[in-house]
Formats: sequence, structure tokens, C-alpha cells
Amino acid sequence: MWCFIPFLTLLSPAIAGVQEIWWNVTYVQNANPDGLFERRVIGVNGSWPPPPIEVNTSDSLLVHVTNSIDKPATLHHHGMFFNSTSWMDGAMSVSQCGIPPGQTFDYVVPINSSGQSGTYWAHGHSNGIYVDGLRTPLLLHSPNETYAADYDAEFTVVLSDWYHNEQPALLNSFINIANPGGAEPIPDAALIYFSQNGSYLAPISGSHPSPVTSAVGFNENATLPFQPGKTYRLRVINMGAFAGFFFWIDGHQMRIIEADGTDTQEQPVDMLSLSVAQRYSVLVTARNDTSSNWAIHANMDTTMFDKVPSTLSPNITSTITYSSSSNLTNLTTVSSYTMVNDSALIPTIISPALPPTNTVELEFNFETMSDGTNHGFFNDLVYNLPVVPAIMSVLSLGDNATSSVAYGPYSFVFNYGDVVDLVVKNGDTNQHPFHMHGYSMQIVNKATDYTSDDPSLNPPLVEGQVNPMRRDTVTIPGGGSVTLRIVADNPGAWLFHCHIEWHLESGLAVQFITAPLEAQERAQGRVPSFMYEQCAALGMPTVGNAAGHADPSDLSGLPLGPWLQKLGWLPKGIWAMAGCVLTAVIGIVTVMWYAMGGSITEEEMEEEARKRIEEKERKGKFFGLIKRKS
Ligand SMILES: *[C@@H]1O[C@H](CO)[C@@H](O)[C@H](O)[C@H]1NC(C)=O
Ligand SMILES: *[C@@H]1O[C@H](CO)[C@@H](O)[C@H](O)[C@H]1NC(C)=O
Ligand SMILES: *[C@@H]1O[C@H](CO)[C@@H](O)[C@H](O)[C@H]1NC(C)=O
Ligand SMILES: *[C@@H]1O[C@H](CO)[C@@H](O)[C@H](O)[C@H]1NC(C)=O
Ligand SMILES: *[C@@H]1O[C@H](CO)[C@@H](O)[C@H](O)[C@H]1NC(C)=O
Ligand SMILES: *[C@@H]1O[C@H](CO)[C@@H](O)[C@H](O)[C@H]1NC(C)=O
Ligand SMILES: *[C@@H]1O[C@H](CO)[C@@H](O)[C@H](O)[C@H]1NC(C)=O
Ligand SMILES: *[C@@H]1O[C@H](CO)[C@@H](O)[C@H](O)[C@H]1NC(C)=O
Ligand SMILES: *[C@@H]1O[C@H](CO)[C@@H](O)[C@H](O)[C@H]1NC(C)=O
Ligand SMILES: *[C@@H]1O[C@H](CO)[C@@H](O)[C@H](O)[C@H]1NC(C)=O
Ligand SMILES: *[C@@H]1O[C@H](CO)[C@@H](O)[C@H](O)[C@H]1NC(C)=O
Ligand SMILES: *[C@@H]1O[C@H](CO)[C@@H](O)[C@H](O)[C@H]1NC(C)=O
Repeated sequence: MWCFIPFLTLLSPAIAGVQEIWWNVTYVQNANPDGLFERRVIGVNGSWPPPPIEVNTSDSLLVHVTNSIDKPATLHHHGMFFNSTSWMDGAMSVSQCGIPPGQTFDYVVPINSSGQSGTYWAHGHSNGIYVDGLRTPLLLHSPNETYAADYDAEFTVVLSDWYHNEQPALLNSFINIANPGGAEPIPDAALIYFSQNGSYLAPISGSHPSPVTSAVGFNENATLPFQPGKTYRLRVINMGAFAGFFFWIDGHQMRIIEADGTDTQEQPVDMLSLSVAQRYSVLVTARNDTSSNWAIHANMDTTMFDKVPSTLSPNITSTITYSSSSNLTNLTTVSSYTMVNDSALIPTIISPALPPTNTVELEFNFETMSDGTNHGFFNDLVYNLPVVPAIMSVLSLGDNATSSVAYGPYSFVFNYGDVVDLVVKNGDTNQHPFHMHGYSMQIVNKATDYTSDDPSLNPPLVEGQVNPMRRDTVTIPGGGSVTLRIVADNPGAWLFHCHIEWHLESGLAVQFITAPLEAQERAQGRVPSFMYEQCAALGMPTVGNAAGHADPSDLSGLPLGPWLQKLGWLPKGIWAMAGCVLTAVIGIVTVMWYAMGGSITEEEMEEEARKRIEEKERKGKFFGLIKRKS
């Protein structure tokens, strides 16, 4: 196909079968993609946005990432399995310590053996650095492409929310006693831009965007050239931090053929809905007439925004150009938004749901915690990064690595081959996108109200499904639940988290440790020494349990909390609870009261919760969450 010819020339001639790239992660000053504000971003080799990565599935990918910013960095290849090599997964403090400033990490992405193809992305996974710009499309092109005969050319469509302030400042104001309700930072703009064959599409002629980002067309200065009668594959990716997007093209229909790397039977849709980190490929057949050009619409879903400031344009447009002399048709609005019903999509490669052996129930919500800040939590626990990255605990604990206590109280251990149902219940009123590292998840059940007795709102799980939809990032409706099934056949340490970056940072995550003994066996002689050297350079321990102790159950020194007010039952705890209610009522006054020491101390709260957790663990059951079916 003609569209791949330029791409082939990008393949590294150095080593056959390996595409090798070098990324120097740097700050870039004065980037201005929205045309509204110049700011510092995190880019590659002094430019932004980082170049798209396109790989042939018969090759493996080797990415040499040098960290030239002033804090630890990592790169996560989102959706890649890293089968039995989870130390290459790029999740800071789970799969590696972080690349210290000035050092290089060589990420080996075994695409040639993963059996994966389709549309992914790569992004920083340390302290929210991707929010500041370290993110790019990652496309895996297969010689066996399911729909190769059905399209003439392809484009990648990047959607993203955009902030004018840098992530650390935004995070500070988000997790703050002055923000007890947990209102997330509201984006300042939305972005849409395009790439093809590893390069971004330039701005339309006649536009004069800001100099630093002038090589790339953004929003109204970007266009997709269409030729009449041809069919295009658009790979649409939401690379944002917070906002979901609705995406459609005036005058054109779309047919979904892929979601998160899973090829599907064609499904016509008028509109796509994408939570952060989700991807769809759609086929779009061009019109026969060139008499008009057409608007492309990308509207941010603002339902989660605390408010929509008058300065924010949540609805952005770009165009399809048939002819430079044609006028634009811009239908400007739609009467309503529609969501893609992804669980109704049908994968082209059939994979039946196997009978489950384990069920993990996870209920999440957000609350003002005992310290006055707002956090996300699963089953009453806020996730904190372990002191020792989970994979290093796996590799250093010997036979004790099978103990789930060792990884901290937000961790679950599975045996090789377990068929695990994650029943994830959304106690919040908004929808949230959950991402599983190292796996694609089958969506075997979905409820719009998990507390309901009405089977139309809360249907029972049906076993024996022949081919449920699977993907790596699943949106859970507000008040609803999903049951996600995985076969635990990828040994290692994997994070499962809300992909809204603010929620991950506020603790909405758990760790899954798969087959630790098999992970140890398969890691023999394969873990590069720089893994350990980089930890040493950062002063981080690499052996022992989550807290760095040889005794798996000694978690002393492990960062925990903050705690839910309701975990405290001492008189002081009751005061704290009253404080919480007051917070809602009289806001800032209460916050000052907190700041002056009106509540139970964090240490006391921690001590109580620790006791409770220990007690439950002694009973052989952690919150009664893991049930093994007989
Ligand atoms: C970044 O710079 C290095 C060194 O000059 C070069 O080898 C590499 O190809 C560049 N990478 C990109 C993505 O431009
Ligand atoms: C990476 O970029 C930094 C900052 O521009 C520069 O000082 C350094 O020499 C570069 N390193 C490599 C390996 O290209
Ligand atoms: C393409 O399909 C053939 C036959 O199914 C298979 O042997 C081969 O490994 C596939 N190649 C890639 C790169 O997926
Ligand atoms: C994948 O590529 C790597 C690097 O070239 C090679 O060592 C390995 O044998 C390949 N694996 C398969 C299954 O082709
Ligand atoms: C990928 O590589 C294979 C084997 O080298 C080649 O036959 C195929 O044309 C390539 N496919 C693409 C999409 O570049
Ligand atoms: C598009 O270009 C115009 C100048 O032609 C510029 O004023 C505007 O900021 C640009 N828009 C974006 C999103 O870059
Ligand atoms: C374009 O014209 C062909 C031949 O008349 C027709 O089959 C096709 O449906 C038309 N396509 C569109 C998108 O109208
Ligand atoms: C574009 O619009 C102008 C003004 O409405 C009109 O005069 C012109 O004929 C239109 N051009 C085309 C190609 O339709
Ligand atoms: C389409 O119309 C909307 C609403 O008037 C406007 O904001 C947008 O700039 C228009 N898009 C183009 C590409 O002209
Ligand atoms: C964005 O578009 C939606 C759907 O067309 C519309 O309801 C909403 O009012 C628009 N918002 C703004 C700020 O224009
Ligand atoms: C991982 O590799 C094993 C074989 O070693 C295979 O059985 C399993 O399906 C793979 N899992 C994933 C998620 O790729
Ligand atoms: C496992 O933990 C126990 C209890 O602390 C300890 O005695 C034993 O040495 C540990 N085993 C290994 C292999 O580290």
C-alpha cells in the first residue's frame, strides 16, 4: 500500500528486526499549540510534540530514553504486554525506580512476539509528566492487517486537553486542604492534530502559528486532505489528562474497526466517545463531490468540570479539505452526544471468556480525608507508591514473593493461569476510565446501577460468552460497574488505575502481582543492570517487601494514607468526622480549623487503620476481597 512506503524508510537499517530510536527527554520553552499561551513543555530532542512511533509487527522496538529534565522520568508504552518483562513497562515505582536526570534507560518493547497490532500510545508515567507533553502515538503495523484491503491511506488523529500551568503546580492545588471537594484542574484548551507515516501534518498555508510549534497544524490550522471516493483509516487517540472527547465529522459516517488494539467487526457510528487513553480506528469513505470541505469536531466532555470558564472553548474544530477552492460546511452543533457501546463491539479474533477462578471486588470513590485533602480510594484505601518497586519485591523475596501482604495493602497476588474477574464498582457519579497494565481485559458484564435490583440496570453475569469485547482502557459509568476478566498469564507486577491523571495521583490505583515465582524464573539473567544502578542513583532500595524489609509482613515505614474519616472511632475521630461535615458546610473556615490542628493527627489515624488492617489479615482475609471459587 502506498502509504507505507515512506514509513519503511524510517526503519532503522542498523539491526534487522529491531527498530531503534533515541529520545532525549528535554524541556522545550515557549510551546504554544493552542495559540493562546506560551509555556514550557516536556518534549524530545528539544522539540514538541514528540515524534509519533510507527513499528512493523515483525520487528521489536528499542527505545533509548535519556532523561534531560530535572526529575525522574519514565516512558510507558501504553497497552503493550511486556510478557514476563514487566520491568520494561515504565510505571514508576511499580516496574522501575525512574530514570535519574542525566541517565538513559533502554526500553525493549517485544512487539515481534506479543501478537499485538493496532493503535497505542507512549507516555511518561512518573509524577504526571505526560500532562506536560511527554506523549505520542504508537502504531503497530501488521503485514496481516485485518482491514488492509478496505482503506487507501491512514491518518492518526490526536485529541487532548491542554493546560497552561505545569502539572506540579496543578497537582499542588488539586491535592490541597483548600480544595476539600477535590475539584480537578480545568483544562485551558483542547487540541486536535494529525500525523501520517511518522510525521505530524503541517499547518494550513496562510496560517502563522507560534514559532516553537509552527511545524505542526493545531485545531483550526490543521486539516486532513481527502480525495473523492477514497477510504481512509483514522486512528483516533485521546492523549489527554482529564477530559473525555466526542469526535465526529460533518457529512461523513464512520465505521469502527479497532478499539485499543483489538480489531473489531465493522460498526457504523455517527460519533465516537473517547475517555483519556482510549483509541479507536474508524474507516471513513470520502464523498464523491469536492464542492465542499467539511468540519471535524472534537468536543470535550465537560460534565466532570467543576465549571466551564467563559474563557474556555471546549468545542474545537479542524477540517477535511477536498479542494482549496471549496467552501466549508460547518454544522457547528449536535443535538445530543452519544456514547460508543464498546461492550457490544465484536473482536475479529475470537477469544471466549473462560470460567473464572477468582473474583476481586473493587469499589471506588472520592472523599475528603482525615487530613482535609480529597483523595480517590479503592475499598477505603488510598494507593501510595511503594518504597521498593513492586517488580523488585517480586524478584528479591524468594518464596515469600507469593505473600500479598508484602506488596502493601492495595495489592493482589494471582497464580499463573488464574482467570480473574475484577468487579469494579464506581461509587462516584461521574464515569472513570480504568487502565490495566500488561493485559487486555474482556468486558464480561456492565451495570449502569450496581446497587439496583432491576436486571435491566444491574444485569447478572452471563457465563459462556463466546467472544466478549476486550480492550486495555474501560470506561465505568457513574454509579455503574463493570466486570473485567483477565487470564493471569503474564507474570510480573502490574498497575490497574484510573487514567484520569489527577485521580491516579490522588490514589485511585491497585497493584496486581501475577505469578511471582514464574516471574522470578523468567527474569533469570534478563533484568538489565542499569535497572538497579538507577535505583541506587536515586537512593531507592531494590530488595525486600514494599517497605524494603526482608520480612514480607513488616510494612513499617511504608507510606500509607491519608485515611477516611470513618476509619477513626476514637472521640477525636468523631470530631474529625464532624469536621468533615462542617467542611462541606462552611468550607474555608473549617479548613483553617483543620490547619490549626482541630483534627486527629495523621499518625494516630494511621496507627488505628494499621491495626485494623493487621487484624483483618490475621483472619486470613484482606477485606474479604479475594474469593476463590471451588
Ligand atoms: C535525537 O537526537 C539523537 C542524537 O542527536 C539522534 O540520534 C536521534 O535520532 C534523535 N531522535 C529523534 C526522535 O529525533
Ligand atoms: C539532551 O539534551 C540536553 C538538553 O538539551 C543536552 O544537554 C544533552 O547533551 C542531550 N543529550 C543527548 C544524549 O543528546
Ligand atoms: C501473519 O499471519 C501469519 C499466519 O497467520 C503468522 O504466521 C505470522 O506470524 C503473522 N505475522 C505477523 C507479523 O503478525
Ligand atoms: C524479536 O526480535 C528480537 C530482536 O531482534 C529477537 O531477538 C527475537 O528472537 C524476536 N522474537 C521473535 C518471536 O521473532
Ligand atoms: C513488515 O515487515 C515484513 C517483513 O520484513 C514485510 O514483509 C512487510 O511488508 C512489512 N510491513 C509493513 C506494514 O511495513
Ligand atoms: C492558527 O493560526 C493563526 C494565525 O494564522 C493564529 O493566530 C492562531 O493562534 C493559530 N491557531 C492555533 C491553534 O495555533
Ligand atoms: C460515489 O459514487 C459511486 C459510484 O457512483 C457510488 O457507488 C458511491 O456510493 C458514491 N459514494 C458516496 C460516498 O456517495
Ligand atoms: C463559496 O461561497 C461563496 C459565497 O457564499 C459563493 O459565492 C461561492 O460560489 C461558493 N463556492 C463554491 C465552490 O461553492
Ligand atoms: C465551526 O463553527 C464553530 C461554531 O461557530 C466555530 O467555533 C468554529 O471555528 C467553526 N470551525 C471552522 C473550521 O470554521
Ligand atoms: C459545545 O457543543 C455542544 C454540542 O453541540 C453544545 O451543546 C454546547 O453548548 C457547546 N459548548 C460551547 C461552550 O459552545
Ligand atoms: C505470555 O506468554 C505466555 C507464554 O510464555 C503465553 O502463554 C501467554 O498467553 C502470554 N500472555 C500475554 C498476555 O501475552
Ligand atoms: C520469608 O520470610 C520469613 C519471615 O520473615 C523469613 O524468616 C524467611 O527468611 C523469608 N524467606 C526468604 C526466602 O526470604
